[in-house]
Amino acid sequence: MNLFDVYPLNDITIVKAKGSYVWDDKGEQYLDLYGGHAVISIGHTHPHWVNRIEDQLEKIAFYSNSVKIPLQQELAQKLGMLSGKETYQLFLCNSGAEANENALKLASFHNGRKKIIAFSKAFHGRTSLAVAATDNRNYIAPVNETDHVIFLPFNDEEALTACFKEKGATISSVIIEGIQGVGGIHVANDSFLRLIRSLCTEYGAVYIADSVQCGYGRTGKFFSHDYAAVNADIYTMAKGMGNGFPVAGIIVAPHIPPIHLQLGTTFGGNHLACAAAIAVLEIIEEEKLMGNAVTIGKYLKDELENIPQLKNVRGRGLMIGFDVPEDLKSLKKNLLWNQKIFTGESKPNVIRLLPSLALKKKDAEQFIDSIKEEIENMVSLSNPVS
Ligand SMILES: Cc1ncc(COP(=O)(O)O)c(C=O)c1O
Repeated sequence: MNLFDVYPLNDITIVKAKGSYVWDDKGEQYLDLYGGHAVISIGHTHPHWVNRIEDQLEKIAFYSNSVKIPLQQELAQKLGMLSGKETYQLFLCNSGAEANENALKLASFHNGRKKIIAFSKAFHGRTSLAVAATDNRNYIAPVNETDHVIFLPFNDEEALTACFKEKGATISSVIIEGIQGVGGIHVANDSFLRLIRSLCTEYGAVYIADSVQCGYGRTGKFFSHDYAAVNADIYTMAKGMGNGFPVAGIIVAPHIPPIHLQLGTTFGGNHLACAAAIAVLEIIEEEKLMGNAVTIGKYLKDELENIPQLKNVRGRGLMIGFDVPEDLKSLKKNLLWNQKIFTGESKPNVIRLLPSLALKKKDAEQFIDSIKEEIENMVSLSNPVS
């Protein structure tokens, strides 16, 4: 049997990982500033995370949600404490798309409405409602097409206000990434998030903060939406939550009550997933990783801003993007093949940095030296001295 070939692949096989480094099957070492797509939060194969999972594996890996699983409560407690959302309620699932799917569905159950507001360049996942709220026609199969989703321009306060004025009574929810990831690292303005909060409150809609990529401490606050100093009704989480172990969830404000069997899952919140997620939170707290994300993120941004060829350096903490000019468009590829550094990208020419929150200063310095060297090489190749 062959694999169903849906991804363009780099010809690299990674066999080992530690901290911010990975190694391929030929023993080549790579610096990982991509974090396997923003997933590696506390660093690859962190010993505490490995121990927690191994210990749990010896006891019990899975039982269904028909019995009590105290690890879920322990996770909820820790998450409430670290995020500052102690009064929220946790529902666990398995992926970012599933988290958003549940959030959109719960909002609709709660207010009985059907319309969803999403924004240009949004990415919310591949399942039916999550993909319908994703602004990319290529990902939406005919069966997922729906007129329930209204797309508005990102950060456009006038358009949002006008839409609520016209259709407010039909709007079930507004879903927005605090920083758009797949769309190319676009930060939602604080004033825009505050407007979403006030319009949702005024019209009885649910504010859903998609924190799948920009959450879990990556920006220096637990949720990047927190920079706006207002609370969303539902936060969705995945990626960094398990540091590579598949675990996701939503936290729900206390004014939205649970109703038995409206939401459900077989694997969500299993013993192993909870052990991994608890270990992640313990390390984020113990190693002060949110503070590290701010410090190292600032260093990277300052240094990148001083490289004249790179434009529009943007982002928060360790979620950083910048535009690469057309004549240097192979920069990302060259960083990988010449400098052995993984970075992320957004089309057409954006490089995205999504490293572990434990990235060390020396690794950030190595990246800056490497990117300068690659740019210099590319510039001198295109302007050879005769
Ligand atoms: C903001 C955002 N939401 C949702 C998702 C979907 O997450 P998953 O791939 O875990 O379903 C992603 C994935 O990249 C994402 O970046």
